[in-house]
Amino acid sequence: MTYANAISILKNRFGEQLSTRMADREGHGKDEGGHAPMLPDAVLRASTKNEVADAVRLCARYRMPVIPFGAGTSLEGHICAVHGGLSIDLSGMNRILALNETDQDVRVEAGVTRQTLNTHLRDKGLFFPVDPGSECTLGGMAATRASGTNAVRYGTMREQVLSLEVVTADGELIETGSRARKSAAGLDLTHLYIGSEGTLGIITELSLKLHGIPEKLAAGVCRFPNLGAATDTVMATIQMGIPVSRIELLDELSIRAVNQHAGTSHLEAPTLFLEFGGTAAGVDEQIATFTDLALACGGSHIAFADNQEDINRMWHARHQLYYATRAMAPGKQVVTTDVCVPISRLGDCMAETRADFEKSPVMATMLGHVGDGNFHTIMLADPESATEISAMEWLNERMVRRAIDMGGTCTGEHGIGLGKRTFLAWEKGPALTLMRQVKTALDPHGIMNPGKMLPDR
Ligand code: LAC
Ligand code: ZN
Repeated sequence: MTYANAISILKNRFGEQLSTRMADREGHGKDEGGHAPMLPDAVLRASTKNEVADAVRLCARYRMPVIPFGAGTSLEGHICAVHGGLSIDLSGMNRILALNETDQDVRVEAGVTRQTLNTHLRDKGLFFPVDPGSECTLGGMAATRASGTNAVRYGTMREQVLSLEVVTADGELIETGSRARKSAAGLDLTHLYIGSEGTLGIITELSLKLHGIPEKLAAGVCRFPNLGAATDTVMATIQMGIPVSRIELLDELSIRAVNQHAGTSHLEAPTLFLEFGGTAAGVDEQIATFTDLALACGGSHIAFADNQEDINRMWHARHQLYYATRAMAPGKQVVTTDVCVPISRLGDCMAETRADFEKSPVMATMLGHVGDGNFHTIMLADPESATEISAMEWLNERMVRRAIDMGGTCTGEHGIGLGKRTFLAWEKGPALTLMRQVKTALDPHGIMNPGKMLPDR
């Protein structure tokens, strides 16, 4: 075993909380994406921030890599232990520490999941909007700058975090901000750590903004004869400033996946899933304006529901889409990709991507948080077929290159992890050097989640 000295000292300090059992290592060496497992040497189930700080201090002394672990639901290999080391599992740090209803903010430990937080808030008239598909932890969501279906209205984790408590690479606990809604005090460390993917430090606590639940919510579906008609409608909706809470595009195959997984019977056509929130009159007005736009672009079968149960059922099915797509072809290798472009380029970007797919042997769903110009493809290929595997790589690269050329980014949501490090270099050019300098300054021994985000030299 590597790092044997460090592990025996960690074992003395943490006893049963420290495990080197194969099952625990396997449970912490692979995320929900398609990357091959890479196991840590040991797993620490942390229960307090001081334990995290002590563990990082010990690891720093022995130059042992440290990989923060929340729920393991990332898709780009973020938690793979490329160089072995210690996986620090924060899922047991799941206390909601302070709710300030008047200020609409909350303090949580990093292992609280978004679902747990929203269940806690249910009777307060407040909610936390950021909603990736999975049951993920808020610490992991901040570390990966997560988003989801509500981002078009409320923004991503970038907009929701007021302050973070972080364990630095030398094991110090720092607070990056305060509960103030704005601050002009010094460098913005909060946003340096948001999206740093565990490569600069470990988030142990978060202060988050909350939002009032709108007086009325309505969800809707709208079908289109082709993807272009749907993206035209999305662009018009955003340009008109209709404050949609959610506007999600699912292509024909995505709809088939939803139908098979959720037992629904939507027509297999490009479809928008929508949500409108506000006052009753405001929602009616949004629906009326949207309907006019959609009809003008060729939309049909427009249907709305304001029954909370129906709305929940629809969004649950949407949130399960990644799992639903995988379930259509069990045993296939999966590559999920994710780009984001300015809204005016969304239609072209999706159309050109679709044309690439039509030329390839790979089966794929296209879906996305299109109000943000963000979409995914979930590609499924036969792991035994070299042709299909290399086609997936080609498709992924073409899609990313196209998005960057259109003024967009190689990832709107899923992050860099292991899978997109080359693409980060494509996108950032000389700015990558500055990122490397920040990394060296904050993590001089390179122990924080090594092998991630920054490409190898
Ligand atoms: C989704 C995941 C794949 O949007 O990001 O379902
Ligand atoms: Zn997504």
